Amino acid sequence: MDSYKNITEVEMNQLVLPSHTNERQEHCLSGGQLLKWMDAAACLSAEKHARTSCVTASMDELYFDQQIYVGQVVNITARVNRAFHTSMEVGVRIRVEDLLSGEIRNVCKAFFTFVALDKNHQKQQLTPVVPFTEEEKSQYALANERRRMRIQYPVNLRELAKKQNDQHDNEMYTPESETRSNGEIAPVNTSLESVELVLPPHANHHQTAFGGQIMAWMVAACTITATRLCRSHPQLEAVDEVKFRGPIKVGDRVVIKTMVNNTYDVHMEVGCRVEAYSIGGEVRHVNSAFLIFAAPRRTDGRGDLKMLPRLMMETDEQKRRAFEAMARKRLRFEREQIRKSVGPVIAIPWNQCISQLLNFNNIEALVKLYQLTKWQEVQSSKGVTLSKCESGNHLCVKASYSIHLPAEVIFTLLRNEKARKEWDPLLIKVQVIKVVDDDDEILHMVLQNKMHNATKPDDVVLLVSRRAPCDGRDHFTIAYRSVVLTTLPPYPEYNRKEHLCSGLLIKETEGEEEIIEGGSQYCLDIGKFQAECGPFLSCSKLGFFTFPSHELIDQILRSREFSTVKKEKMRTVALEGH
Ligand SMILES: CC(C)(COP(=O)(O)OP(=O)(O)OC[C@H]1O[C@@H](n2cnc3c(N)ncnc32)[C@H](O)[C@@H]1OP(=O)(O)O)[C@@H](O)C(=O)NCCC(=O)NCCS
Repeated sequence: MDSYKNITEVEMNQLVLPSHTNERQEHCLSGGQLLKWMDAAACLSAEKHARTSCVTASMDELYFDQQIYVGQVVNITARVNRAFHTSMEVGVRIRVEDLLSGEIRNVCKAFFTFVALDKNHQKQQLTPVVPFTEEEKSQYALANERRRMRIQYPVNLRELAKKQNDQHDNEMYTPESETRSNGEIAPVNTSLESVELVLPPHANHHQTAFGGQIMAWMVAACTITATRLCRSHPQLEAVDEVKFRGPIKVGDRVVIKTMVNNTYDVHMEVGCRVEAYSIGGEVRHVNSAFLIFAAPRRTDGRGDLKMLPRLMMETDEQKRRAFEAMARKRLRFEREQIRKSVGPVIAIPWNQCISQLLNFNNIEALVKLYQLTKWQEVQSSKGVTLSKCESGNHLCVKASYSIHLPAEVIFTLLRNEKARKEWDPLLIKVQVIKVVDDDDEILHMVLQNKMHNATKPDDVVLLVSRRAPCDGRDHFTIAYRSVVLTTLPPYPEYNRKEHLCSGLLIKETEGEEEIIEGGSQYCLDIGKFQAECGPFLSCSKLGFFTFPSHELIDQILRSREFSTVKKEKMRTVALEGH
């Protein structure tokens, strides 16, 4: 196992030289150069899997959290997380080694999508990735969720921008209402148009430009625009999702147009439009991207960031860009909040515009729970194994058991909240409050509180995300987490409880038995949960969540007459469906 290496993994090490630095005179690696290396490493990994040429279709948002300096080594590892049909997700991780101190730090990670092309430049079907380690399995499952988010992202963005446009007046694109005394600038005064000629060194084996090269040109142009706004050196902090709509060939002219879309106190968004044309050919819009810059530091010794001037919006087009920038800012902010949500704040406010983020977060929490490796068996009886595991400030509990029924049958029962009463002894009532989409709903559950001094039942508002497998390597998954709905405030007749993460994984096995794993995660500071140590009992006592007992499920399903013949038929149908 120690010698195991993912066959799609590539590792690249680059020594940062003065020629790789940015304009800030701090001997820092430029963001554009880093993007070039990341794209190249990701491409090599994609091609290792595809065994044919691959092109960059997109890069998800990327945050530059830390600086990298001349003399340090940038270590880039890339591997294919999952192949879909003709596209695949490649995960890229950046670490930095300080050669003098020996210190190694994680800097950032990003996800690229590559599409495989055959000799005739046509999209090519890919073979599946077979995940082996627990980490690979969890990335495999999450790649599918990220794909859902990518598809939904433009829809969410449009809705959010429209909502803000409808609800607010001109104040909205200059959201901080306190005065910024350092003047106003017209967006056109920050704009730039610049042309590049695509030469063979910029291109891959298809004679089309590398995505990383295009991104490096984009960063350079956006940096000029951002500097024009603040007349000092701003810091690149993030790149929003970048999509490559069509190839750019050797000999094409690439025109990069940039302008500041909106400024906030100490941050700004720069929009970038990339067009390409060949001599005598039509102009093609090949991508649009949005880069976030932080204001430069003050020079008066106070160390904090300079306030940026406001933008003076003159046209409807500029206002539209500003609203869209606000929508992107809002989504970034929500993503950060969700990413950082730890400690006693468990329930995240639900909002349709960020529903895909919350669905992802719900599934991700459960997948990561199962990825934990230090489970300790607490108890094993009647075929049910209970385990616990401490991770950070969380206590996780898990129950595993097997059932002689097709996974799909079990999933059909457990996904049906109306049938929940049959296996959840704590449930008093459950109501679907909102149907988010085909696979995600918000539920209000009222549960018995078995604590000896309890005076009223508990209630929880839960987002439930249910996933059927897309292929034989996925599992049937049902994930729950608390959310806050303004339309469902705490009621006096119930104790409102919050639930961090729980759910079920139903794994199809080779034999007759399917394995059900129920897991749950709690903040250690909630009650004396650990001391009680009987995870199921304690869950029930605290009224958070119950896992179905395997005898009960077996009994319910058998009572519904799933005969062996029917089971076999269902299994065949399920397999044919994939
Ligand atoms: C990427 C590209 C090949 C897609 O071509 P297309 O005809 O639009 O493709 P489709 O809509 O049929 O999508 C093909 C696959 O790519 C995926 N895809 C397309 N655009 C995507 C994006 N922005 N993000 C993620 N996946 C994307 C689709 O989901 C589909 O996946 P699947 O086959 O695994 O289900 C095409 O847009 C292209 O050539 N882009 C330029 C690539 C390039 O040269 N990059 C370097 C820098 S310019």
